[in-house]
This record gives sequence, structure tokens and C-alpha cells, in this order.
Amino acid sequence: QVLAAIEGRAELGRRLSAALGIPSVVVVAGDSDEEAWVKDMLGYHAAVCLREHLLPGDVVAVSGGSTMAALAKRMPERAGPPGVKVVPARGGLGEAIALEANTIAAELAARLGGTSVMLHVPDYVREETLQHLLEEPDIEQRIAEVRAATVVVHGIGGALQMAARRGLPAAEQAKLVERGAVAEAFGYYFDRNGRTVLAMSVIGLRLADLRRARLVMAVAGGRSKAGAIAAAAKAYRIDVLVTDEGAGHQILSMQ
Ligand code: F6P
Repeated sequence: QVLAAIEGRAELGRRLSAALGIPSVVVVAGDSDEEAWVKDMLGYHAAVCLREHLLPGDVVAVSGGSTMAALAKRMPERAGPPGVKVVPARGGLGEAIALEANTIAAELAARLGGTSVMLHVPDYVREETLQHLLEEPDIEQRIAEVRAATVVVHGIGGALQMAARRGLPAAEQAKLVERGAVAEAFGYYFDRNGRTVLAMSVIGLRLADLRRARLVMAVAGGRSKAGAIAAAAKAYRIDVLVTDEGAGHQILSMQ
């Protein structure tokens, strides 16, 4: 029975891989919308998968959110390849401290025995402030480092849920509804065809930077995220997706 369940999830992964155009899809049991431990398992499997892909000297950019927090928490505490550096994919996106990419990068680096840097720049700044910040040598150098990440590991969220969680002004939230936004990743909002309909400021990793990365890994589960995952898969290249059965079955039923 256990073997049949494992084989069932492997088959679900293969079908998702074909449907989404993502070369490798790992599916964990359950639905993280329904049970908290499923997100924990998602974090664990994603952590093991990330560890397997790491090479000496990798710069790993990690995003924020509860799924990435679970990944960092469940990363086995054992030295990874030498010289690994973990950087936050973005500055502050208005998340709670435990969900900030900065916090998660620090924890992940500590567990891997690597180093980390912080990006202390909020995403909400006025245009003129932004220009000044970007000219600060220290910030400029850190942003360049983030943008040159060799491995990118990130969460995906529903557009409207993320807008509300970050306290986006009502007018911006209305814009998202009007433009049919269904997914969010890295501060970009996408419609169901994977088109960018709104983007936050330019501090940190940009979508175009993903092309240079050796590995782009997404981790997202829960039936409610099915539409968001499918849209993100159309928006940019994902090499590895770690998801759960709840999201997986729903994605296939939407095709
Ligand atoms: O805000 C950071 C972020 O990675 C978003 O880009 C993403 O949509 C969200 O967190 C995912 O959050 P969670 O894992 O809590 O659903």
C-alpha cells in the first residue's frame, strides 16, 4: 500500500511535469491547505532536493514566505558543499519578520554551514529614494550579487492573497483584479497566461536574472495555489517544482 502511494505520487509528478513543462516535479503526500504538517514535509523534501543540487561556491537566492521558512527550518544541519552563500532574493516585501527572505537566508546558511548577506532595502520606496539607494556602493554591490545567483529557490502565492498579506494599497489591489492577476512570485504579479500585470520595485532579483541561474526551484503546495503554480510555470523557467497532492491533482483537473 505504501509502495503504491509512492508510485502514485511519482506518476502524478510525471504528469505534472508534462502538463507544466517543468523537467522535474516532486510531489509530497497531502494538501498543505488542509494540514499544517504537509507544508513541513514540503519544506523537508525541498530542502533535501536543494541540498542534492548544490555545488561548491554556489550563490543561492531564497525568497520569503511560510514555505521557504519551512524549507530553512527543515534543512538538515550538516555542512553543505564549501563556499555556499545564501542571499535574499528581494529586500523587504512587507512580510512579517519570520517570513522575510533576509531571516530565511540567514537560517538556511547557518544550517548549511555557509555564509549569508542581508538586503536591508524595503521594496516600497519613492522613486527618488530608490535612485539614491541604488547608488549606495554597499547596496549596489549586494544587489549585483543577488542578481548573479547561481541557484534560485522560491515560493509562489496567489496574487490577491499576497497583495492583501503585504498590505498593497486598495487601488493597486483593484488593478490586480482588473488585470486578472492570479499568481505572485519575486514581487511580480502574473495573469493566468503567465503575463506580468504588475511588478514591484527593482530592488533584488529580477525575472530576467533567472535566465542566468543554473537552477530555478519552486516550492508551493495546497489546492488553492494550483492556478498560481500553473501561471508561474508559463511566466518563467522553473527546473524543479516541489509541490503536494492537493495542488497537483487540482492543476491536472484544470488542464
Ligand atoms: O513574499 C515572498 C513570497 O516568496 C512571495 O513571492 C510568494 O508569493 C509567497 O512568499 C509565498 O508565501 P507562502 O509560502 O507563505 O505561501
